[in-house]
Amino acid sequence: MKAHMIIDFTRIIGKKNPYFFGSFIEHVHRCVYPGIFDPTSDFADKDGMRKDVLEEIRKLKPGTIRWPGGNFSSWYQWKDGIGPKEKRLTKISYADDIIREENHQFGTDEYIKFCRKTLVEPYITVNAGCGTAKEAAEWVEYCNYNGNSFYANLRRENGSNTPFGVKFWEIGNEIYGDWQVGTKNAMQYCQVVNEFSKAMKRIDPTIKVVAVGMGKHDPDWDRTILSHCWEYIDGISVHIYIGRHGYFDSFGQVYTIRDHLKKMEDDIISLSEKKTSRRIGIALSEWGIWYRRGHKDALDEVYNLKDALVFASAMNLLLGFCNSLDFTHQSMLVNCLGLIRTKQYKIVRQTIYFPFLLFANETGDTVLAPLVLCETFSCKDYRYFPWPTFDVGKDNFQIDESRVPQMHNIQFLDVSATFNSKENHLCIIAVNRHPEQSISSSIELRNCQYKNLVTASVITGPDVYAENNFDKEAVGMETYQETLKNHLVWDFPPHSITMLKIPVEAKNE
Ligand code: AHR
Ligand code: AHR
Repeated sequence: MKAHMIIDFTRIIGKKNPYFFGSFIEHVHRCVYPGIFDPTSDFADKDGMRKDVLEEIRKLKPGTIRWPGGNFSSWYQWKDGIGPKEKRLTKISYADDIIREENHQFGTDEYIKFCRKTLVEPYITVNAGCGTAKEAAEWVEYCNYNGNSFYANLRRENGSNTPFGVKFWEIGNEIYGDWQVGTKNAMQYCQVVNEFSKAMKRIDPTIKVVAVGMGKHDPDWDRTILSHCWEYIDGISVHIYIGRHGYFDSFGQVYTIRDHLKKMEDDIISLSEKKTSRRIGIALSEWGIWYRRGHKDALDEVYNLKDALVFASAMNLLLGFCNSLDFTHQSMLVNCLGLIRTKQYKIVRQTIYFPFLLFANETGDTVLAPLVLCETFSCKDYRYFPWPTFDVGKDNFQIDESRVPQMHNIQFLDVSATFNSKENHLCIIAVNRHPEQSISSSIELRNCQYKNLVTASVITGPDVYAENNFDKEAVGMETYQETLKNHLVWDFPPHSITMLKIPVEAKNE
């Protein structure tokens, strides 16, 4: 199959936030314990964290890692997780429909150490379920205050003289849902947001706070929050999980993310006309591929190559929202829906690990708008997870297939292009979504001059259902360099993700 791609350096979408590709860890199932924190492991460092896992996270380079939840944050009392470890109490978390014994061994100080070890910025979700504005402000005081106060001194006593400087805070999690501890309606939540934000920003006016939004599911919720909290917040969040079993239908799901984000953007834009010039950004504070497992199955999804192709297509799409989207937290880093899975003596990089690695490491700061001409396919347009009422494994996941509309004209070759203005290179990430055919594409670069040494990284595997397990990684990534001839033509193998890094000089900048 043939394709043609035009990348014009004057067609700029915008600049992406340096923290754009982030991740998420939660005290559920095997994510934090023992995926990250396991003092009994042979791989544990002096702080009880698994060195092999930390090393992979450092390679992945997420911008921020959201913690401690998720649903868990609506139950979590941060003061239970600080101070001498032997004095920390084990309490029963009823944050989920599963009873968990939380031993509080991984708390704020450990999380900050984890962020320092992995070189990521902290992003904390405060308890807006059963917690108070005062407790949230005291958490900011513990983390960020440099004066002589009780919580700042407590932090010093616990070993950290220098404030942690946590910049990003989210007020609650999915607080609209009846599965959440402390469910609230939109007006109740607005009061909470304003009170929390006021208190937290009085302690540290430099922090950025994000309120819980919903996206396409309930625009009324978003409009209510935006119109009543505009002066108090810096961002609004949305959570989206996608995925299907059918090969082509899975790709249709990517456009569900587009629809959610567009809806949210529209609401922000229309309200911003009536409000001050303050900018409100979007935090996609949980997103990922989740369709096989429910909470009760420990969310232990084993991803295949098809999921990695969908994941990469979703990340290509997210780049296009860089003007409004500040954070994208892939859910989650380890074990549950994880990029990595662990068992006592082993670690496996899931198929989706590799596209995350490419996007977080290689995409540039300036997002361009490529034009692609190629053949297309059709698939079902499931629109969105029947969520928030849905739970995988329950009957309500079944929907009347005859009512699902078709979606057409989806290109086999899915492309993003970014320019790294510091290192002067173009990064093209192309997903060949054809399960069997390679695509030979000419690449026309406009308004730039390129050098002819290309670095290519290709992610693929034997077939679209190939998975990585503890014995064998069937899906992997290969990187090599190649000198180009006069014309840029690239053969993208079937069911693959290819990153091309081309040194360029942007014209007319
Ligand atoms: O476990 C994943 C859960 O999914 C998170 O706790 C919650 O925020 C979302 O519903
Ligand atoms: O097949 C992948 C690449 O496409 C080759 O390395 C290159 O020569 C071709 O254009």
